[in-house]
Amino acid sequence: MKAVIPVAGLGTRLRPHTFTVPKPLLHVAGKPIIAHIIDNISGLPIEEIILVYGENGESVVDFVREYWKGTVKGVLQRELMGLGHAVYQTKDLINEKDRLLVILGDTIIEGESIKSSSLDRDFIAVKEVDDPRRFGVVELDEEGYIRGVEEKPDRPKSNLAIVGLYYFTSTGLLFEGLSYIMERDIKTKGEYQLTDALAYMLERGWRPLAVRIEGWYDCGKPETLLETNRILLGKTGSKYEIPGSLIVPPVFIEKDVEIKNSIIGPYVSIASGAMISNSIVTDSIINREAIVENISMTSSILGQKAQVKGGLRRFNVGDFSKVELG
Ligand code: G1P
Repeated sequence: MKAVIPVAGLGTRLRPHTFTVPKPLLHVAGKPIIAHIIDNISGLPIEEIILVYGENGESVVDFVREYWKGTVKGVLQRELMGLGHAVYQTKDLINEKDRLLVILGDTIIEGESIKSSSLDRDFIAVKEVDDPRRFGVVELDEEGYIRGVEEKPDRPKSNLAIVGLYYFTSTGLLFEGLSYIMERDIKTKGEYQLTDALAYMLERGWRPLAVRIEGWYDCGKPETLLETNRILLGKTGSKYEIPGSLIVPPVFIEKDVEIKNSIIGPYVSIASGAMISNSIVTDSIINREAIVENISMTSSILGQKAQVKGGLRRFNVGDFSKVELG
């Protein structure tokens, strides 16, 4: 079985971090997003991972080659023309009879959500959401199979959102659908959508199951990256003891981190080489070799080698005075 992971997206909502680091390599709860995704699928019988990367995204392929023991291939998506276009780029690396998992490069799911036993049927993973209009949406028939899909509809036919994990027991019809939309220039919201190829397949008798996913953690923007950090640290964060500092779990602290006279946590992930002194840090992601000094900080993301330094303030305040600092 092969897995295609499209990772070329620009991650504009996560700028400035994505100006220098491709989104899949941004850290959350102690490791890059793509490492979580690979861990999610590590229990499945996958022999080959094909990453569809964009300009400047080759470092993602290098990372996965180091991180994962199976065969890793990279395909460059020169122009970002949509998810359908991204998957279409892999057509020469996939045979009609291959079983294929497509998993989007920014979506972390609950570790055990997909089991090998679910691999005897085609499926699309879905989750009930309050407002499905910003997702692909599926419509089910009476038996729970998917009979319709629509990309970001104004009037969704259900509240079941496509989470970004798709499984095909063979790929002939998928690539036929992708070729169809590309050759006829069929775009939705300006892009060649995977959802439109799936609609083509459904019209030709394809009958995938809808597999419901419980944990689905978005990493698309700073707030959701921090939320995912909190949730994953809640499951995996460890206890640490650092003399002279107070560490409030859950946190993740990589090796070679220097912490002095500080209060860290809860929900803080700190990458190697970072230095934190005289500070209070909660609910934050501190990337490699960042420096934090003399500051109280929350809900923050610091990039590699970023520096945030505050200062101690001096007061000479009389009786009954009131000082409020914003
Ligand atoms: C893509 C898919 C959409 C899916 C979503 C999940 O949209 O096109 O069907 O629901 O991922 O995150 P995007 O988020 O890339 O706009």
